Amino acid sequence: MTHYARIVGTGGYLPEKVLDNAQLEKMVDTSDQWILERTGIAQRHIMADHETTSSMSEIAARRSLDAAGLTPEDVELIVIGTSTPDRFFPSTATILQQRLGIKNACPAFDVSATCSGFIYALSVAEKFIKSGSIKTALVIGAESLTRLVDWTDRSTCILFSDGAAGVVLTADNTPGIISTHIHSDGSHHELMYAPNHIGELDEPPYIKMKGNEVFKLAVNTLSDVVDQTLAHNDLQKSDIDWLIPHQANLRIIKATAKKLGLPMERVILTVRDQGNTSAASIPLALDIAIRDGRIQQGDMLLFETFGAGLTWGSAMVRY
Ligand code: UT7
Repeated sequence: MTHYARIVGTGGYLPEKVLDNAQLEKMVDTSDQWILERTGIAQRHIMADHETTSSMSEIAARRSLDAAGLTPEDVELIVIGTSTPDRFFPSTATILQQRLGIKNACPAFDVSATCSGFIYALSVAEKFIKSGSIKTALVIGAESLTRLVDWTDRSTCILFSDGAAGVVLTADNTPGIISTHIHSDGSHHELMYAPNHIGELDEPPYIKMKGNEVFKLAVNTLSDVVDQTLAHNDLQKSDIDWLIPHQANLRIIKATAKKLGLPMERVILTVRDQGNTSAASIPLALDIAIRDGRIQQGDMLLFETFGAGLTWGSAMVRY
């Protein structure tokens, strides 16, 4: 029997505190107009001092499991896409396992793939289900990015945000996840990075980014990956009901939608209100659009993402 992974529950969490463009104008030499025109971002969510990647993941996980009608003990695998784990070790996924009270000794691990972390984690979990080795997986994308922001650097501090979201996958006879596609190219890893005190003793641990170079690579790479994803599945652009992109920059998202011939009404957008939550952005957007009724059972969804590494990827999903 063929096993497919189906998304049967979603859940998200954003910290309460909001930082809008007017507040940023008082912190660095920028303007609401510049930020809106160049990025599409109006505000971002900032985690409280007591919050962590695992605490935000716990709320997202419990909401996902509730939506699926399942309990933590049903989970047979936890994968978290994050580049901002609570600790170097152990993994944030094991901390989440403890927070959820899961005592069934299921595997739990993190995947580090920057903004592609959720798609990488989804791809891994899907393969566990497809192989028949498990029936239920919890897949989370979660980031504490503002902890790595240099609040004096106007080229990066306007972009990033915190949050967590996830999906519950279960085995089914029909898709579900139709295909996932994940890629990396380490030759550009210096374009965007956050050092730590193990690899770079003298560098402050803040995000560094050559934004314009990343921007151009993102537009071209995403255009290619959506083409490849459609061709791989023998699908046409017109088969896509909803594009759910990584939310880094509205101009990048518009370029991909244009390439697909999709009107912006068929694109799930959160970038204006949420900024760039990296690995959390796709599941956050998915959750919002499922809960507000835009995405309906049977709809064809295309996820796409691009981030530091470089990493990029996509998933074709029948909801
Ligand atoms: O999450 C996944 C990976 N990340 C991305 O996908 C991010 C990709 N990059 C971007 O989104 C854009 O490159 C940015 C939004 C970061 C920057 O926009 P840009 O249109 O590429 O601007 P730029 O870096 O080419 O800078 C243009 C000008 C510069 O001034 P000069 O040299 O022309 O005088 C910057 O100093 O804009 C200036 N600038 C700003 N001005 C006002 C840079 N940041 C700001 C700012 N406010 N916050």
